[in-house]
Amino acid sequence: MTASAPPPRERPIAVFDSGVGGLTVLQELLVELPHEDFLYLGDTARFPYGERSAAELERFALEITELLLARRAKLLVVACNAASSAALDAVRERMVSTTLGVEVLGVIDPESRIAAERSRSRRIGLLATTATVASGAYDRAVRNYASDATLTSVACPDLAPIIQRGFPFDRQVEETVRAYCEPLREADVDTVILGCTHYPLVAPMLQRRLGPGVALISSGRALAASVATTLQRANLGSTASDEGTYRFLCTGDVETFRALGSRFLQMPIDEIEHVELSSAVPA
Ligand code: DGL
Repeated sequence: MTASAPPPRERPIAVFDSGVGGLTVLQELLVELPHEDFLYLGDTARFPYGERSAAELERFALEITELLLARRAKLLVVACNAASSAALDAVRERMVSTTLGVEVLGVIDPESRIAAERSRSRRIGLLATTATVASGAYDRAVRNYASDATLTSVACPDLAPIIQRGFPFDRQVEETVRAYCEPLREADVDTVILGCTHYPLVAPMLQRRLGPGVALISSGRALAASVATTLQRANLGSTASDEGTYRFLCTGDVETFRALGSRFLQMPIDEIEHVELSSAVPA
């Protein structure tokens, strides 16, 4: 460590996602951990991740990991469900191979644990992108916490892009959301995992269609508790008494990130730095 490096506790928590969707996760982290500093990377140039192959997602995640380690992150949060489901093990392996001791948290495990705790009927639903459903990551995680539960998974290939383009939400967005609810209604689930960063934005539509008795589990809140526990266990919690800072990196256009991002974060977005990763591969 150089003389000018901040002590580990005062380094930022790095969060990354395929774009602005992970700001729904960051929002929960900012609320639950107000004294921490955050550095968020949105890979907007390569959004969406949800229809990409596992190999591609792993390559992207490892590339972003290197960048965030170079920015001295004390903890790495993979806020993207597609990247978490395809690349979490690879990112963890990479961390083990460094001597930095940086822990990595994804969104699949915390959401699955909470869903397993909440479900009484043991019939759980999942809405997620194609990549996330295909990975089987939620099937494994839910089985791990509730071996007696049945998971009904619905791949929603167009839902994240529709939500992202969809402000203000119109009847077409509502019809899309309602259609994806049908298999979950048929399966009579009592708990639904929102397995994509964008879906909290349509939570009221989902709740109305699924009924007030169905618990919706989003990754942000589930993850915040895991981040807090991890920081405490590793003695890495910030000692600051003031509110922490939050800064942004994005691979696409900065002003588009700002305009879209503030809708997802529902907080002001000031400092955004454009960063180049390898070639922007079209989805
Ligand atoms: N962050 C992505 C996810 O949670 C949003 C969708 C996408 O990039 O396709 O899966």
